[in-house]
Amino acid sequence: MANVAVIGAQWGDEGKGKVVDWLASRADLVVRFQGGHNAGHTLVVGEQTYKLSLLPSGLVRGKMGIIGNGVVIDPEALLAEIARVTAQGLNVSPATLRIADNATLILPLHSAIDRARESARGERKIGTTGRGIGPAYEDKVARRAIRVADLAEPQTLSDKLDELLLHHNTLLAGLGAETFEKQGLLDRLLELAPLILPYAEPVWERLDEARRAGKRILFEGAQAVMLDVDHGTYPFVTSSNTVSATAASGSGMGPSSVGFVLGIAKAYTTRVGSGPFPTELFDETGKLLGARGHEFGTVTGRPRRCGWFDAVMVRQAVKVGGVQGLVLTKLDVLDGLPELQICVGYRIGGEIYRRFPAAPGAQAAAEPIYETIEGWRDSTRGARSWADLPAQAIKYVRRIEELVEAPVTLVSTSPERDDTILVRDPFEG
Ligand code: GDP
Ligand code: IMO
Ligand code: MG
Repeated sequence: MANVAVIGAQWGDEGKGKVVDWLASRADLVVRFQGGHNAGHTLVVGEQTYKLSLLPSGLVRGKMGIIGNGVVIDPEALLAEIARVTAQGLNVSPATLRIADNATLILPLHSAIDRARESARGERKIGTTGRGIGPAYEDKVARRAIRVADLAEPQTLSDKLDELLLHHNTLLAGLGAETFEKQGLLDRLLELAPLILPYAEPVWERLDEARRAGKRILFEGAQAVMLDVDHGTYPFVTSSNTVSATAASGSGMGPSSVGFVLGIAKAYTTRVGSGPFPTELFDETGKLLGARGHEFGTVTGRPRRCGWFDAVMVRQAVKVGGVQGLVLTKLDVLDGLPELQICVGYRIGGEIYRRFPAAPGAQAAAEPIYETIEGWRDSTRGARSWADLPAQAIKYVRRIEELVEAPVTLVSTSPERDDTILVRDPFEG
């Protein structure tokens, strides 16, 4: 068996969707294992562009999609996304999509709390997507969440809503936000139940069967290691674990089933939302990267902050994320820049660091130490083999490989599915 897990190695939006779509041709099932509709994965296939948030990207290739127990599911968002991609010609039905019956649901009160807390934070806001991701995970850990299977039990829904509202209405009222009424929420959940339940099953059984039959499973991560709730730039993180180990716990399989772990990184760095970003550029080069890379959030439309490649951070993401192969995307965005910088260390209070510090004060104070590399003049856009790359671009990729201590497995040179250089087939391990 050779499975593959794809995770982000920076702060998200590295091109995981494109890579998963490309790899899905070699897979039998594609599994989402954490996050929710805070993710935005863009896939470009010929004339069509698909923007997926909750649905596994393998559906575009007609591969069975699984939403694992580790995902937080907003049923309204799920149904809207299914309707949207169905209108684009994709086949999404209980025959092609299965949802873990023990996954947690996001309710409208979660996004209300998310937004109310963010506005209360003012200047210190995290810059969340406002989609209720954090509050839904909090409810899961607090053992009061409504889960997919509960939709089949009206009494369970009623009892759990009592507990949820006692907690959340108190908080909402304290924050000066509107509170929720039980009946409206209950009625809507009972309406949604027959639309969602046909997709629900204990997905761990299907995955176990697939594993025993030697099928290839592709795990699709959302967000990225530096947004991981343990390993990221806390508190400016998302509320799930994004590292490769979560592919197992978030889908109901053992860790040995995860297979080869691919970490996706852009050839530079971006971040949406607040938080430390040592290599951030506020100059013309930063603007150029944003414009050329079309760096606007898929989910919120916010401009992404842009900066140089940070090898210290990606090296750390490789280690804590269990990355065995690196995918470097958006190399084409650097075309024509005379000089490139790679961050190889941080200076913090007179000391030199080769890792991202854990304390927020130290994170914010980190000054990048750069190594300068000559750029390349010729275009890399659309390159599909090493032979198509300028020598200097190859040098840049090789230097990154050395600094982050992971071999480059794939290189991506445009948004288009096939503009990809295969260095080593990850399904071959
Ligand atoms: P994800 O969240 O990791 O799936 O990434 P997003 O889809 O949010 O953001 C990546 C963006 O870059 C998308 O618009 C992709 O179409 C685009 N993209 C992916 N790979 C490349 C590439 O190699 N070159 C260029 N120019 N764009 C790319
Ligand atoms: P994909 O899968 C980039 C960021 C938000 C915010 C922080 C917390 O497309 O790479 P949340 O709503 O999760 O509580 O917000 O995390 N964030 C992302 N940034 N890509 C994503 O997903 C993200 N999902 C969340 O901007 O800073
Ligand atoms: Mg994205």
